[in-house]
Amino acid sequence: MKNTLGSALTLTLFGESHGQAIGAVLDGLAPGIPVDENDIRHALDLRRPSGKISTGRREADEFSIISGVYNGKTTGTPLCLIIKNENQASRDYEYGPARPGHADYTAYMKYHGFEDFRGGGHFSGRVTAAVVAVCAVVRAALRRKGIAVGTHIASLCSIKDRGFIDYNEDIELLYNKPFPTLMDEAEAQMRSAAERCAESGDSLGGVLETVCVGVPAGVGEPFFDTVEGEISKAMFSIPAVKGVTFGLGFDFANVFGSEANDELHYEDGVAVFDKNNNGGVNGGITNGAPILFKTVIKPTPSIYKPQKTVDFIKKENIVHTIRGRHDPMIIHRARAVVDALTAFTVADLLTVRYGDDCLLSEK
Ligand SMILES: Cc1cc2nc3c(=O)[nH]c(=O)nc-3n(C[C@H](O)[C@H](O)[C@H](O)COP(=O)(O)O)c2cc1C
Repeated sequence: MKNTLGSALTLTLFGESHGQAIGAVLDGLAPGIPVDENDIRHALDLRRPSGKISTGRREADEFSIISGVYNGKTTGTPLCLIIKNENQASRDYEYGPARPGHADYTAYMKYHGFEDFRGGGHFSGRVTAAVVAVCAVVRAALRRKGIAVGTHIASLCSIKDRGFIDYNEDIELLYNKPFPTLMDEAEAQMRSAAERCAESGDSLGGVLETVCVGVPAGVGEPFFDTVEGEISKAMFSIPAVKGVTFGLGFDFANVFGSEANDELHYEDGVAVFDKNNNGGVNGGITNGAPILFKTVIKPTPSIYKPQKTVDFIKKENIVHTIRGRHDPMIIHRARAVVDALTAFTVADLLTVRYGDDCLLSEK
């Protein structure tokens, strides 16, 4: 379905970067799930741009829940949340020059000139604020059930963060970090690389690593609706995501089966894995180990250097230098979206398996 993700739990997205508002609708939530607006504000704060390494567009992200919540709990009918756009600068955007790496040309080819192109329109990272906001409700519901998600910047160019050591402690550490690295030293190096890059008018990409703990074994479907497939679909809906891998990912190509396999044994009647090269999934179904995956975020397409492109209105080859306000790197902000959509997808998979009441804390 267009603009709708999910199966038993669905997320529908609407809005454009410079339109009146952006928003999202969550459908399929059980009645009685607590909705704390502080959880939503916290999630939006982690996505909001700040400092020299982010776009100059600053939005207050004041949101309104216009349906589906009464007396602080979900009603069971669609939850609709909107966020007004208040800081647009539409005059900075020209219609015709296709920004290389952005969706201007593909949007024109699909929508024949009827698209609202201002600020990237429906293709703007701005729209992800609505995703982050509504999914905060789901993420908090999962946390109350001991299912937690955390994402860090594993690498930015050649600068590397450490990997996860204690999943639960690391998730807690990341929960309050606007710049999500596990080592302070990695944050300092990444920030200064990004600032240097921004000064030169260029942009940077990197790799995010995500873990989700607490998902029981036996969730997901074989073949088509695999856990890897569902999570990947959600990740590829995030603008600028160009790859997703689980566990060892492409490094499986460099090891023997004896190294790749995760050996297991029983502890108190529960199968426990000695390591987690398979990222918590076998045969498309969770095995009870943490779900572990990586997402690559490309460098922000809008850069302040002259580039060869086309003007698709004038049908000319041009050399174009963009105006407007853009993020020199997206990755630290994209992590809030990755966390949000991981929580959403896990909640959807659990709802398919156990029914909508499974997100209630007492069930
Ligand atoms: C949080 C977030 C912020 C973004 N900010 C910008 C931006 O300021 N400038 C830009 O050119 N792209 C930005 N992007 C990426 C583009 O929206 C994206 O590259 C574009 O829609 C093309 O999609 P694709 O890269 O998935 O092919 C942002 C993405 C996210 C997730």
